[in-house]
Amino acid sequence: MKIFSRYTPLQIAIHLYAWSAIAWIIFELATGTFSINPIQELEQRTGRHAITLLVLSLMCTPINTIFKWSEPLKRRRALGLYAFLYATIHVIIFVDLDYGLAWSLIVQTVLQKPYIVVGMTTFLMLIPLAFTSFDIWKKRMGKNWKRLHQLIYYIAPLAVLHFAWSKKGDLFSLSGDIIRPLIYGLILAIFLIFRIPVIRKALASFSPRRLTLSPKKESQPEVDTP
Ligand code: HEM
Repeated sequence: MKIFSRYTPLQIAIHLYAWSAIAWIIFELATGTFSINPIQELEQRTGRHAITLLVLSLMCTPINTIFKWSEPLKRRRALGLYAFLYATIHVIIFVDLDYGLAWSLIVQTVLQKPYIVVGMTTFLMLIPLAFTSFDIWKKRMGKNWKRLHQLIYYIAPLAVLHFAWSKKGDLFSLSGDIIRPLIYGLILAIFLIFRIPVIRKALASFSPRRLTLSPKKESQPEVDTP
């Protein structure tokens, strides 16, 4: 089929995975099997999909370092933009479906719940990254592009903090639904450790062989590594 020669398996997998959350929600709504608390369920699912895509986008550099497989670097932008799309839907659900655009109530809730302040900070920081993720901005901004996009290393831990805090569990006694955010936190910590130059160098020298999983000829990544 033509689609398989135009797109690599990784590209297809990323697009399918990214749209799967919306497709699944539509399927459950259509078949009447959606949650009895639909707004909360929508808020939680879009939030989880956003953070998963964000963490996946951070996996690309370590995968390239360890396996010398450069294709994930080219897919990072798509993963980041999908994360932003789901974060935007998540925020729209909060302000519109949950709070019916009652701005004074929204401000009151934000002030009362610090985890929402963290979520908002995360979202506001994601906006410039999403809008400048295109090649034209990379050329225009030069070195500043890389500096700006390094913000992702602050954004991702903030998103995990927002996730964990929203669960109202106790981290020390591991009570409440804290396990899932903890797993995200651990995965993220591992990726961030991979960023430490000494560890990165060690991994690069240890890495086995160059992977060529893509049907297209592998070239050096066209995306800068922040
Ligand atoms: C203005 C920005 C944001 C607001 C107002 C907001 C609001 C909320 C609220 C109210 C919840 C709790 C839902 C519930 O359990 O009842 C929540 C959970 C969550 N949010 Fe956000 N959020 C924001 C930004 C973000 C961003 C940028 C991300 C990720 C990139 C994110 C990821 C999550 C996750 C993963 C959860 C937990 C889902 C679960 O319970 O399984 N949020 N958010």
